[in-house]
Amino acid sequence: MADVEKITVNTFLQMKKQGIKTAGLTGYDSSIAGIHASAGKTPMDRIDWILVGDSAGNTMFGYGTTTKVTMDEMERITGYVKNGIDNAVKGGHVTYQPLLVGDMPINTYDNPKDGVYNAKRFIKAGADAIKLEGGTRKGVGEVVKAIFDEGIPVMGHIGFTPQTANKLVDENVVQGKTIVGAKELIDDALYLQANGAFAVLVECTPWKVGKRITDLAEIPIIGIGAGPKTDGQLLIVHDLINLTLGKPFKFVWQYNTKNAKEAIKKYAIDVKKGTKPKLSQSFTATEEVEKFIETYDPRLVYHTCCEHSCEHCEHKH
Ligand code: KIV
Repeated sequence: MADVEKITVNTFLQMKKQGIKTAGLTGYDSSIAGIHASAGKTPMDRIDWILVGDSAGNTMFGYGTTTKVTMDEMERITGYVKNGIDNAVKGGHVTYQPLLVGDMPINTYDNPKDGVYNAKRFIKAGADAIKLEGGTRKGVGEVVKAIFDEGIPVMGHIGFTPQTANKLVDENVVQGKTIVGAKELIDDALYLQANGAFAVLVECTPWKVGKRITDLAEIPIIGIGAGPKTDGQLLIVHDLINLTLGKPFKFVWQYNTKNAKEAIKKYAIDVKKGTKPKLSQSFTATEEVEKFIETYDPRLVYHTCCEHSCEHCEHKH
């Protein structure tokens, strides 16, 4: 068997430092997982991570929502995806083994105890990390920290969060279109980072908001509908290879090929080169919001004594 390098959360952090973007896709079964794992063979054409998303409720189970998906279902399909990766590795098809991230379904992380218990179920099923939705408003910091303290890597998910779609700050799907919404998203990302998240997924926000969060965070910021300037991209694989009946979202792109593996490799290359998504596929903010986010930086503490932030203060607090 050829040497296989496993992609870890440290790989993600190193990639951010080196300016290499991560390419991720969802996967819900063993065959797609094997294709993801074997599509590319270098850091510039590989799929770095697979999300076993609760979007399985839409793509696989026909529920038409993610909110009916159960922990038992997620645990089972995580095992299928892990089998697909393992088989591809055993078959000698893989150079880099993607990070496998399990998506915690609704009501499985309402408090730290439940969060830790269910995160452990994902790890036992074969995941390397878990993802959960929410930021400051949902107050998930304690849960993130508790799971992180158990040694389980956590990816945050902010912006449009389907599990709490009726409780978001901005109307409609795109979040961060108002000053209040943009501020909350920036705060959320840094709050998740402070509580131990190794990366944050930002779903559906104007591209300049996606860029500002990416510039401010030390951990990788991965976008789905957050424009081209993030540290990486995720798409739902069914959207990428056109396995859906409806019209794809604005931020989705596809390739004119009959070969899924080819499309997946092309996707990884375009993400890493930064050529997709295009700006024309991205959401925009008003000038007022753009102006606000240019200077808004919650990392700096404003001091009334010097009327400046610590970074600029000569008095050395
Ligand atoms: O479940 C999922 O696939 C997701 C992505 C849409 C972000 O959470």
